[in-house]
Amino acid sequence: MSALRASAADPFRHPSRFPDFRFRLVQLSEYLAQANALAQDARALLDGLDPDTRLDVAKGQLNALKDDRLAALQGALRALPADDRRAAGTAFNTLKQGIQEALDVFAARQASAAGASTFDATMPARSVWRGSLHPVTLVIDEISEIFRELGFTIALGPEAETEWYNFGALNFPPDHPAMELHDTLYLGKDTLLRTHTSPVQVRTLQQYKPPVRVLAPGQVYRRDFFDATHAPAFMQLEGLAVDEGISFVDLKATLAEFARRFYGASRRVRFGPSYFPFVEPGAQMDVEVDLNDGKGLRWVEILGCGMVHPHVLDDAGLDSEKFTGWAFGMGPARIAMSRYDISDIRVLYDSDVRFLEQFAR
Ligand code: DAH
Repeated sequence: MSALRASAADPFRHPSRFPDFRFRLVQLSEYLAQANALAQDARALLDGLDPDTRLDVAKGQLNALKDDRLAALQGALRALPADDRRAAGTAFNTLKQGIQEALDVFAARQASAAGASTFDATMPARSVWRGSLHPVTLVIDEISEIFRELGFTIALGPEAETEWYNFGALNFPPDHPAMELHDTLYLGKDTLLRTHTSPVQVRTLQQYKPPVRVLAPGQVYRRDFFDATHAPAFMQLEGLAVDEGISFVDLKATLAEFARRFYGASRRVRFGPSYFPFVEPGAQMDVEVDLNDGKGLRWVEILGCGMVHPHVLDDAGLDSEKFTGWAFGMGPARIAMSRYDISDIRVLYDSDVRFLEQFAR
């Protein structure tokens, strides 16, 4: 450590120790003595360095020691009597070689010390930041995994929908307020950006014969303000189970099981009445969660659900006398917010790495 410090008391840096040959006539013996002294000082410096010293640091110290003195010796060649210049020149070259050799010796010593002491083949490699899944994606993946174990597969539908799939086939009366322009982003006369994932129910029932158990995640759009609790585009997760003999008991049992697995076995759930045109009866499920705001457990609405309305089954081409089913829809962004203690929905859209990297796994 002390070798790294160049203090004012450092004898090698004291200017008066080195006579300036340039302005007086020099004797060969004095010249050789100075050359010899520099060779010894350089070797002493390098030999005294800790082998951990970085090579550039060692070179810096060596240069501070030798540069002025070498320049003085080179200049002094001209101050020597003519007959002595050849011998002095030889001594000068030998001196330079000697310094270089001493530096090579130090470099070799340093390299083998570095190899012996700081290379650890068993040390784990430094990991590279590879990004992470978005918290909403994490929630969707986790929920999908739970429903996969309960027998559900994933279904997808288009984000640009027709009015019929988004509303008509889902038993919305023609004058339903959700159909008005202020909620729905229309692309054309009959086409719109889907306002929910429920149209995937209809598309699935048209394509597959029961038994059907699907989970449909996807982006939905609404003409909403972008504020702390609303976004004009957000993810939804739709669920649908249709078969012969399916009852409200299946709905309650499956969704309560989902809540237990996602929130923890000790969390209570409750169902209350609600209204959606495409289910009858319609319900909502609340879960008792702790939002970490010091207020303890409280009921939070997690999803809307209900028994699939017979009109929906009939419109999709199924016999509603034979088949029954239940459905649910939830917003994974809201679930992510309650789970990860996020109070402003906008951070989910900011792509701020400082926020997102907290979820890296
Ligand atoms: N589509 C509804 C919405 O966007 C959510 C919903 C409620 C979906 C009840 C359902 C359901 O499948 O049964 O608000």
